[in-house]
Amino acid sequence: MAETLEDIARQMVAPGKGILAADESTATITKRFDKLGIASTEDNRRDYREMLFRAGDAMKSAISGVILYDETIRQKGKDGTPLVDIIKAAGAVPGIKVDKGTKALPFSPGESITEGLDGLRERLKDYYVLGARFAKWRAVIAIGAGIPSDNCIHANANALARYAALCQEQGIVPIVEPEVLMDGDPATHDIDTCAAVTERTLKEVFAELKIAKVRLEGMVLKPNMVIAGQKCARQASAQEVAEKTVKVLKAVVPAAVPGIAFLSGGQSDRQATENLSLMNAIGGLPWKLTFSYGRALQAAAMNAWAGKAGNVAAGQKAFAHRAAMNSLAAGGKWKADLEKAA
Ligand code: 13P
Repeated sequence: MAETLEDIARQMVAPGKGILAADESTATITKRFDKLGIASTEDNRRDYREMLFRAGDAMKSAISGVILYDETIRQKGKDGTPLVDIIKAAGAVPGIKVDKGTKALPFSPGESITEGLDGLRERLKDYYVLGARFAKWRAVIAIGAGIPSDNCIHANANALARYAALCQEQGIVPIVEPEVLMDGDPATHDIDTCAAVTERTLKEVFAELKIAKVRLEGMVLKPNMVIAGQKCARQASAQEVAEKTVKVLKAVVPAAVPGIAFLSGGQSDRQATENLSLMNAIGGLPWKLTFSYGRALQAAAMNAWAGKAGNVAAGQKAFAHRAAMNSLAAGGKWKADLEKAA
């Protein structure tokens, strides 16, 4: 397996592949299970994730890496095989979410700061032993009246940079994720507001990464797409999303970064796929553009599985379809009729 930071980062954004974000905290996956009437037990969470990681062909052809949660990286499959080994056997790199979630930012109503730096060096050492070769830290930027504040952008960018430097020191590739929310509340912003806030945020993130001496060749950026807020009356077309996203990224993301892997952020499965495909169809980009989707890769599979052992094949089939569609999108080759054919 690749072992330098640069090799691991390149492997994470290999052509036609992307990242499966399966790192929902227990609270988050419980919310998703609750909606489907699935009991959120440790075994059910394991069975669900094992179903995805054992979707052999889909994993091998479309998934370069899997982001795990602390509980999952320590779990074994039903037959006793560590889940990490199942992921590696599929040719994917195991990764780990290391932030400890968001807390209210003092004196900044509606804004948050991501916590988890205390003791991070020691936790990274443990995760390395458990097999993780990349990590993820998500910062959240909300758009609203008078926000984001400079304080919020600066504090979150600084934390991302401190996290990224610690990861690289420990031989782990950092996924740097500053997420400008599309589904927050209030979220009435239009696409141009999102473009401006995303650009301002990414500029600050790269300035902080530089101060912290993070090597750009050994990281992956995980941004939001430039998109109108879900409650905005004017929703942009997929082509407009693709063009505005690429324009912002070109203005602020150095070419030394090997790859950009988007979050789906509440977009529909199909929207997330189509937008990515149209961006890649623009061509001539200095970095790889791929997916690091949670909901947009998993929602159909979780629905089909619904917590029943008898539905594992159906769940894997639904996952394989989304994985295949997004693999095509990573090459700019997705077509709408491929969705109908399935
Ligand atoms: P979504 O694709 O569901 O936004 O999740 C990706 C992720 O990892 C968010 O941190």
